[in-house]
This record gives sequence, structure tokens and C-alpha cells, in this order.
Amino acid sequence: MFSKQTYIQRRQELKSKVGSGLILFLGNEESGMNYRDNVYPFRQDSTFLYYFGLDFASIHAVIDIDNDQEIIFGDELTLDDIVWTGPKEPLHEKAAKAGITHVKSLSAVSGYLHDVSSRKQNIHFLPPYRGEHSLKLLDWLNISPAEAQAKASVSLIKAVVSMRSYKSAEEVAEIEKAVDTSVEMHLEFMRITRPGMTEKEVAGKLQSIAIGQGGDLSYPVILTVNGEILHTHTRDLVMQDGQMSLCDAGAETAMRYCGDLTRTIPTGKRFTTIQKEMYEIVLNAQESAVAACKPGILFIDVHTLAATKLLEGLKQVGVIKGDPAEAVAHDVHTLFFQCGLGHMMGLDVHDMENLGEQYVGYTEDLKKGTTFGWKSLRLGRALEPGFVVTVEPGLYLIPTLIDRWKAENKLSQFIDYNELEKLRDFTGVRIEDDVLITENGSRVLGKELVKSVEGVEGMR
Ligand code: GLY
Ligand code: MN
Repeated sequence: MFSKQTYIQRRQELKSKVGSGLILFLGNEESGMNYRDNVYPFRQDSTFLYYFGLDFASIHAVIDIDNDQEIIFGDELTLDDIVWTGPKEPLHEKAAKAGITHVKSLSAVSGYLHDVSSRKQNIHFLPPYRGEHSLKLLDWLNISPAEAQAKASVSLIKAVVSMRSYKSAEEVAEIEKAVDTSVEMHLEFMRITRPGMTEKEVAGKLQSIAIGQGGDLSYPVILTVNGEILHTHTRDLVMQDGQMSLCDAGAETAMRYCGDLTRTIPTGKRFTTIQKEMYEIVLNAQESAVAACKPGILFIDVHTLAATKLLEGLKQVGVIKGDPAEAVAHDVHTLFFQCGLGHMMGLDVHDMENLGEQYVGYTEDLKKGTTFGWKSLRLGRALEPGFVVTVEPGLYLIPTLIDRWKAENKLSQFIDYNELEKLRDFTGVRIEDDVLITENGSRVLGKELVKSVEGVEGMR
């Protein structure tokens, strides 16, 4: 945990932003893998962590702004519990570390909230993303699961986003720790990957580094020789010489701050000629996009810049015809780059995504796109000092998509489908770094992780 002053100040600021009413924070529960007592690794809700820092299951909190009261609801361990878990620090002592002195039992939540509802005090809550949250809202506030998203408090969402988007120095230090561990995972990926190994074998070794550093993964490792499949988790292929291996992996620290990095390497010792050409197109787009990140620039414009650089490169290899910028204006890049350039990162790898991408990544004046490619751009708004974002362009040759566009002769004024056919089985390349926006520009977080062709081949 950070010092209790951090949590007290955050809640103070939140109270003044929301103004009135009562804020209900739902903590997360343990999730049974196959029965109640055999659980998945526990992950606390990130907004709960941000305001209270308490990283264990079955606690909830309220901030009663109108009556200036803060309460944690949870239970002390019983003797029966201690037989299984061993003794732990009492709940009231943990709560005191977050600056909270009022602790009530879990069984008191329901009556407490019924009283609040009956005196018509406004109750703010965030959109539920777990089934258990929805059931609690039904039980405690009589809000059905179908209505719960729509009844979430927009003023609370906006207030939380307006705070969590700006990372403090102590948060940046934690994120950088996560990125450093993520760098170690990627260095290991580059050291150990060999033809004949399975994707799983490599992924498992990377996971052990994240756990060994005291935290865990910030998302399941994507380790694949089919880099064109954006989020594949099958990992059951044997990696072959001549293929590339894409690794998208990140660690989260014990305090749950995240890293998120991607590198693509030759599975054997060297890139082939076409792999090198394509890799360098992505590298140029990625480095151009990182260099463009600074306060004031719209991230949607950085995305457009990266897309243009990708098409400029594809023009050099004969796949694209005409003016690359004009081609981007016609969405030609979405045949090769179907996702967004990046996203906010912090306590969540896609930071605050559960609060709604429109609120996190866009503004009243800049709405999130709805068309293919653009609908996957999670962040479009102007960058500001304190934001931490990922920059992760890629080229993804998806045979099913190529076949569809070719059959429709779609945008053939810009695309040479005969040349493209030669790249049909190329697979995919992505390169991703984590970037802090500073007062004057930006800084790539963490220890350096090689990404030039020579640098990557030097590691093989
Ligand atoms: N690292 C996975 C993602 O950004 O979606
Ligand atoms: Mn990412």
C-alpha cells in the first residue's frame, strides 16, 4: 500500500468532485475454479484499490459525502477461518492503514443501504462487470442486473476517470517496476525461444518470472507463431524455424500496477528478408508514434500517423498503390491494422476499461468511432502529462479478411491484390512499449528492451 495520506487525499478529492450523495464501492470476491474453496488468483477491483488500497476479498466501502462518513464493511477472521488461513492482521488495523476508522460487519451492508435508500439519499455506484456485483446491487438496492449498467453514476465515472488518468510520481514508480519485470520476461522470451519448443513451454517460463517478482501477470500471455491472431490464447503449436514468434506479455506488481509489452522475433536465429522488411515497417511506425506522443496531441492523430507509416512501408513492398495518407482516409490500413494504436495503462492493463471507453478514451466533442478498425481504438483524446499509454502498432495479415476484401475487390485503387497474395501467410508483427506523457513530451518506461532487427537478432 501507499501511505494512508495518499488514500485519504484521493477520497477527499473524489468527494469534492462528486459533490453530494453516497458512493458505494463494491470490492471483488474470490472466484471458485471448480468449487468454492479452490480459487483463481484473487484480483481486487482496481477502483477499490485506488481509493482504499485493501487487496483482499469480501470487503465493500461507502463514502457518505453528505454526512462526511467513510465505512468499510467486512468481517474479522473467525477461529474456523484461521485454522485454514493462519492468523492475519485484523480488518480494523488494515482499514486504519487506508485512513478508515469505521468498520462494520458484512451483514450490516444490506440494512445500512436500505436505510440510505429510504431516506432518498442518492447512491452512486460504478458499472458492474462481475456477476456478483450485479447480484449485490439487486439484493441491496433492488436494481435488476438488466438495469445496473444504465443506472451507474455518470458523475462518479467521470470523477474517477478524471483522477485515475493522471498517474502520480509514486504510481509511475510502481508502473515502471511492472514494466521492468515485463522487460525481464521479454528478454527471457528472446533468450529461450527455439524451433521445436511449444508456445506453451515458453509462455509458462515467462509467467514464472512475473510471479517470482512478487506480483503476477497483468493479462494472460499471448505467445504465438500466428501473430496475426490478435488475442490468441491457444499456445499449443510447436514453433518452427522460419516462423516468427510474437510475445505480448506483461507483469503486474504486488500493488497491482501493470506493464504491457510486445516483441516479435524470428523463431530461429534470423528474420527472413520479407520478415525483416515487414518488421522494419512496423518498427518505423512504432518509433514515429512514440516520438509524436506529447501533451496536446490527439491520440487518434498518433494512430493515424502510425497507420500512414504502415501504408508508406507497404507501398515500398508493392502492396499499396497511390498516396498512403489518402489510402488511410479511405480506411485501407484496416486490412492490415485492425485494432487501435494503444490504450491507457495503470492499475488495469486496459486502464479503467470497465468504466466505459467513451469516458476514458474520448470526450464530449470526440466520440469513439463505430466502424471496422476505428471501433477498436480505445483512446482518441488529447494526451496530457501524467497519462501512461501503450503504443503498439502492428501488421496483421489475416487470410480470412484478405479473402473477403479480395472477393469484393474492395479499395482496389489502393491495394495490389496480386502482390498481397504473396504475403497471405506472412502472419503478424506487433511492437509495443509503455509511454509516460511528461510536461514537454514523453518517456518510454522501464529498462531498455531491444527492438531493432540487429538488436533482436543479437539476442538469438
Ligand atoms: N496486451 C493485450 C492488449 O493490450 O490488449
Ligand atoms: Mn496493449
